[in-house]
Amino acid sequence: MRPQDMSPEEFQKHGHEIVDWIAGYLSHTRDYPVAPDMQPGDLIDKLPASAPAEGEPMEAILADFEKLIVPALNHWNHPRFHAYFSVSASAAGILGEMLAAAVNVNGMLWKSCPAAVELEEVTLSWLRQWMGLPPEFFGIIHDTASSSTFHALGAARVMADPDLRQRGSNPGFTVYCSEHAHSSIEKGALALGFGQKNVRKVGVDGEFRMRPELLAAMIAADRAAGLRPCCVVSTVGTTSVTSVDPVAEVQAIAEREGLWHHIDAAYGGVAAMLPENRWMLAGAERADSLVVNPHKWLFTPIDISAFYCRRPDTLREAYALVPPYLASQGDPRAVNLMDYRVPLGSRFRALKLWFVMRSFGYERVCAIIRDHMLWARELAAAIEADARFEVVAPAPMSLVCFRYKGTDEENQRLIELVNRSGQAFLAGNRLNGQWMLRFAIGNLGTTREDVFETWSKIQALASAGLCDPG
Ligand SMILES: Cc1ncc(COP(=O)(O)O)c(C=O)c1O
Repeated sequence: MRPQDMSPEEFQKHGHEIVDWIAGYLSHTRDYPVAPDMQPGDLIDKLPASAPAEGEPMEAILADFEKLIVPALNHWNHPRFHAYFSVSASAAGILGEMLAAAVNVNGMLWKSCPAAVELEEVTLSWLRQWMGLPPEFFGIIHDTASSSTFHALGAARVMADPDLRQRGSNPGFTVYCSEHAHSSIEKGALALGFGQKNVRKVGVDGEFRMRPELLAAMIAADRAAGLRPCCVVSTVGTTSVTSVDPVAEVQAIAEREGLWHHIDAAYGGVAAMLPENRWMLAGAERADSLVVNPHKWLFTPIDISAFYCRRPDTLREAYALVPPYLASQGDPRAVNLMDYRVPLGSRFRALKLWFVMRSFGYERVCAIIRDHMLWARELAAAIEADARFEVVAPAPMSLVCFRYKGTDEENQRLIELVNRSGQAFLAGNRLNGQWMLRFAIGNLGTTREDVFETWSKIQALASAGLCDPG
């Protein structure tokens, strides 16, 4: 009994109602419009400006969830959510997340919760093996890839200049990534004080992959100018087109030049788990760090990002700071996660990953990812066969980038019309100066029919002269 909390009977009653609601939601997500029909501020206007002075019954809260919150949801779990990177929360992952909330542990230190710390080590070791990476990689979970990459950049700085921790300020360090790398790299560099001007964007080849010879030339030019090249980030699955940088060649340059090599495989790391896709991470075994997000293409509810680092001692050098109240005995098997990151506390994110990995198993994960990749190739072929459209980048994973052969405004209008229909949700991006559509496939509920019905919808809109046929 917890005298100040809901009674166990009430909890059971509402818990069952909520599980029933989730079960219905997961089996009928496709019945909702993918995106809400609302204007900015609509929900705020419907909610009280201040929290209640007296507690309200759970019935009222649940009723408002259905009435006010659900209509304002963008349904990321919808089978026709094809915007950004399409992700989904599996039932197993949701169950793991519920239990993590219930036990409410904080994994800051081994002694603050051995289960959270040790399960994190075990699940990240499993995930590392699925990606074919060697055991030297120490793993730690962050909330997002942005946080993971931030930690890599901070450690790269310390490797390059061990005194920096005491001295502060940037002694002329530069960071390299392709011009298609995710903005999180630049943001991490900004937050760490590298200075935006010291993030170099390396040019790409015809398939949007970093050109190693340009990287080498930029490093040489920076050295000649008295700067200190510090870190290079290659991407396996760029956000714009899922291109794969030549990891092994970048690694060779990083080794020769003494740079930290971080791999952003936030999205593509999962694709690389398939035996036929091992080439995507070839060379990664010698890199300094790598990030992969189970919350992107591994059916684990947001948020969970797996960060691997072959230099845990450098991570500690960059981030360990132990006030007396957190000091603990130095057993080598008792990992204190707080020593390897900025945040002190963390929730039990490994639990949902453990549920997902055990419930699906490697073979089923591979089969699902393989289907998504196959449908992407089939969709790309269908788009190529329609003379009004063109595919604008190779589709090595499950993202198809294409455009209507018209103006930027027409392409934007196409996206708007699809999204307004509520039947599917797409996002666009600018590539080589032109607006394009991104069609991402990655949801557990998506079928081949979903993909092709959405494509038919796009064709129908084009046939109707980009007018809403109503
Ligand atoms: C390649 C890549 N890296 C990093 C990120 C940032 O991910 P997060 O939201 O986990 O910070 C994204 C987001 O889509 C991405 O595509």
